[in-house]
Amino acid sequence: MEKKYLIGNWKMYKTTKEAIAFMQQLLPTLEAIDTGSLGVFLAPSFVHLSDMAKLIDRKGPIQLVAQNCHHEAEGAFTGEVSAAMLSTIKVSGVLIGHSERRMYQKEDNSLLAKKVKRVLKTGMQPFLCCGESLEDRKNGKHKTIVKQQLQESLCGMTPDEVAKLAVAYEPVWAIGTGEVASLDIITEMHYFIRQTLLEAYGGSIKVPILYGGSCNPQNAAAIFSAPNVAGGLIGGASLQVDSFIQLVKILLEKANDKAH
Ligand code: PGA
Repeated sequence: MEKKYLIGNWKMYKTTKEAIAFMQQLLPTLEAIDTGSLGVFLAPSFVHLSDMAKLIDRKGPIQLVAQNCHHEAEGAFTGEVSAAMLSTIKVSGVLIGHSERRMYQKEDNSLLAKKVKRVLKTGMQPFLCCGESLEDRKNGKHKTIVKQQLQESLCGMTPDEVAKLAVAYEPVWAIGTGEVASLDIITEMHYFIRQTLLEAYGGSIKVPILYGGSCNPQNAAAIFSAPNVAGGLIGGASLQVDSFIQLVKILLEKANDKAH
């Protein structure tokens, strides 16, 4: 069965105490469910990663993802965190190019390409985020922008390297707004991303494509049933244990439906 992904992106929320309490509630529930081929990930603040890592096992039902890392291996970069620092504390993936970092930290595609390479070098999985702004969509540029984001952020990469990553399609206008993209848009954009990667890297590449943007337990069943949707990158609805567990169950059910 194709691997499915559910990633909770906690952004700049939760204290360490709250993060640990979340894990202590989540872990026994996940251990009681057979999560099978579903990868369940949490992306907390850097500050919580090592405490949370102590509660998990690399083969357990939950894995950790960082929200960012620096593109250089190491150096005099005050305030930054390297990929190696993350991989040595049981972090298995890194979000790259989330639209909030593109917007507030002015991260551009050429910088993101360096980050993707760095993350791959340390053996972690890059989760490359892409997605158009409302203005791009109104101007009919959504496909051009997403294609450019993918081409430039994956510049110089081999098909083998690209096969190791996952992409998250997150239309900027749907993030944190409660305005989820319609199923037509999700289906069209995921197909477009799939085709763009196939044209560039060949037919054997099956990069998982996750959807993100106001996904919650009310709308997830429909989203996760759409073609080429391999799961979700979840912000707001990942902050409460109950809604996160509901999302895990919905994705698992949809993955089993697709397999039969
Ligand atoms: P949201 O955030 O689910 O709160 O819209 C998604 C994200 O930013 O990854």
